[in-house]
Amino acid sequence: MVSAAEVAALHQRATEVARNSYSPYSQFRVGAAVLMYADAGEREIVAGTNVENASYRLTSCAEQAAITAAVAQYGPGIRIRAVAVVNLNGAACTPCGACRQTILEFAGPEAAVFYPSGDGGVVATTIGELLPAGFQLKRD
Ligand code: THU
Repeated sequence: MVSAAEVAALHQRATEVARNSYSPYSQFRVGAAVLMYADAGEREIVAGTNVENASYRLTSCAEQAAITAAVAQYGPGIRIRAVAVVNLNGAACTPCGACRQTILEFAGPEAAVFYPSGDGGVVATTIGELLPAGFQLKRD
């Protein structure tokens, strides 16, 4: 369960970093914030923004950037409770397929995902809903 205060904190951090977006090609300024389980620290939130490239396919999405930063800060054992995505363009913005797979790498299917619906609202769902049958490598 993610509290209303936690959701508000996620949206605040995501909005702050979206202002730093490097998006000269799309002008689409995105921010993402991930909330981790407490072993990474009580209510730890790490945020990231999209960073584009003249070679378009090298663009990093905000979600990817946030998760990369979270691993850098807290190590490879992070587990994600929730992710919030925002943009400063007032548009709908669901995580792309690649970002869904990246979130699932560090989350159970119940992890919450919040994204803008485009009409001023926020869609609350789970990564399991967004990416059913996501790939998981079985290691022994
Ligand atoms: N983008 C994200 O960062 N996250 C999303 O959830 C959707 C799209 C970025 C990638 C690119 O820089 C721009 O938005 C337009 O696609």
